[in-house]
Amino acid sequence: MCGIVGAIAKVNIVPVLLEGLLRLEYRGYDSAGLVVTNDGLHRLRTTGRVTELRKLAAEQKTSGLAGIAHTRWATHGEPSERNAHPHFSGEELRIAVVHNGIIENHEDIRIFLKKQGYIFTSDTDTEVIAHLIAFKLKQATDLMQAVCLSIAELQGAYAIAVMEETHPERIVVARNGAPLLIGVGKDGNYVASDSSALLKTTRNIIYLEEGDVAEINSQEYRIVNCLHKQTGEAVDRIVHESSISNEAIELGPYAHFMQKEIFEQPSAVANTLEMVFNAQSISANLFGNEAEKIFSRINQVLIIACGTSYHAGLVARYWMESVAGLPCNVEIASEYRYRDPIADPDTLVIGISQSGETADTLAALSYARKLGHLYSLAICNVPESALIRQTTLRFLTRAGPEIGVASTKAFTTQLASLLLLAVTLAKIRRHLSPEDEKKMIAALRHLPLALHNVLQVESQVKNWARNFAQKRHALFLGRGVHYPIAMEGALKLKEISYIHAEAYAAGELKHGPLALVDSEMPIVAIAPNDQLLGKLKSNLQEVHARGGELYVFADADSHITESKNLHAIRLAEHAGLLSPILHTIPLQFLAYHVALEKRTDVDKPRNLAKAVTVE
Ligand code: G6P
Repeated sequence: MCGIVGAIAKVNIVPVLLEGLLRLEYRGYDSAGLVVTNDGLHRLRTTGRVTELRKLAAEQKTSGLAGIAHTRWATHGEPSERNAHPHFSGEELRIAVVHNGIIENHEDIRIFLKKQGYIFTSDTDTEVIAHLIAFKLKQATDLMQAVCLSIAELQGAYAIAVMEETHPERIVVARNGAPLLIGVGKDGNYVASDSSALLKTTRNIIYLEEGDVAEINSQEYRIVNCLHKQTGEAVDRIVHESSISNEAIELGPYAHFMQKEIFEQPSAVANTLEMVFNAQSISANLFGNEAEKIFSRINQVLIIACGTSYHAGLVARYWMESVAGLPCNVEIASEYRYRDPIADPDTLVIGISQSGETADTLAALSYARKLGHLYSLAICNVPESALIRQTTLRFLTRAGPEIGVASTKAFTTQLASLLLLAVTLAKIRRHLSPEDEKKMIAALRHLPLALHNVLQVESQVKNWARNFAQKRHALFLGRGVHYPIAMEGALKLKEISYIHAEAYAAGELKHGPLALVDSEMPIVAIAPNDQLLGKLKSNLQEVHARGGELYVFADADSHITESKNLHAIRLAEHAGLLSPILHTIPLQFLAYHVALEKRTDVDKPRNLAKAVTVE
């Protein structure tokens, strides 16, 4: 989704803006732009990539000591140059605005502003903000106050950065529901929607809170909070030192971030479970100080998430039931928030999110609270995210920054965390003997090595990719806990290769999808040697008998023999509870190599965004 970068310093800041935008590319966007002050406001916009913007800046010799920049993922108005940010208000003494998020009441404000004589040149809700600030500036003492007065009238979730032509020595920003931070530098100050945009410039980061409005100049910053008062009250915010290494956001020897992130999974899972590896027993405190009390009180689990994180929740349902003996519901956040579910206060509500900024997940969790749910837990990869801040309990997946839009290491670290949670709940609720606890710790310790070993199947999976790349559709089958893994495999293929892929619980095949089976429909099956293998083999026979071409990911001990139209890749022997985590890897490789065959933009698939901060 959209990204913001702003900079003000004693030297030309255009390279900082462009570098920042490049770092934000992974979020997904369809146009980019920037404005700098240098004897007036100079704006560049393009529907091309950030490299195109860089080319324009070089051609026009754009430079300046202050500027704001943006990557836009279209919501209001098509992706076009005139809808790209920054947006201006005023002909001569101009205001420039960049904006992430959505202004829900933009229509009403637009009607009001049109009556005041403001002329609109784009279809965006952002232009409404620019004119509103210009209008408020007539009554305000300075830009910061005008922004405070304006945001009191804006409804929705947003982050903005604003500049004023007549006062090039300052940038004003505001946050309400979308992430925004200040980077404090030696020779300048910066703003961004994501810390990775600034890591090359400064590691000193202030995370703004809801309702914060800040003004930065090249030497100082000041922050007020306008949540309750339109004039704003001065607030102090802590300066954090970012611990994200440069390597974590660099590609290194890899061709794509997705490839890098697939290979990082053993270490990402090891980091996530590090606290368990060093312990003799599992402690509820890993999930927060109040975890033990809450875990012993709850009688069911409700998981809320979107996309890949939702699939992690679906896997966790099997573990909650079989390991912890707890009933568990899993909900798509965008559906849950508009239903009338019956709340039981003794439910543990779990929000799973890589980014911690997904608008639907955040809204669904606050809805759950409103309905009367008391206990919430975030499983999240971003420490300062909105999700982490709004739950009673939290557990960080320590996967490191995930840049590829298609989630890989975030998913397997979520699974590792959820398995740990199921085991912890089992222990607290006396569903786990001390011997079984020891066995579980041993299994979790083994997980990074087991993941490392599965990575070796890459070359075999790659051999299948060329055939898949010719196809227009694919079916993915799994049973039990591996059914959501099949769903995740189908999602990966769709996301990055644009091949239509659907997952079915293998037992459902005969109730409809079998009609689709012919030689043009490859069928991927996950066939671990678990208690459902016999049933799955019967389902595969149904496909085979109808001339379907099967691609089976089996365990070494699954006893599946290759034959005409049945290709098999074997992992190690069946890994018990760890099996769904391990069976994820070959499916990631399959999607990746098919996408390479099809020459798609693996890390930035069309139309998709990494963090979906709008509804
Ligand atoms: C987007 C991303 C997916 C992700 C989903 C949920 O659609 O492209 O990869 O699974 O959002 O994101 P979250 O950050 O909440 O896990």
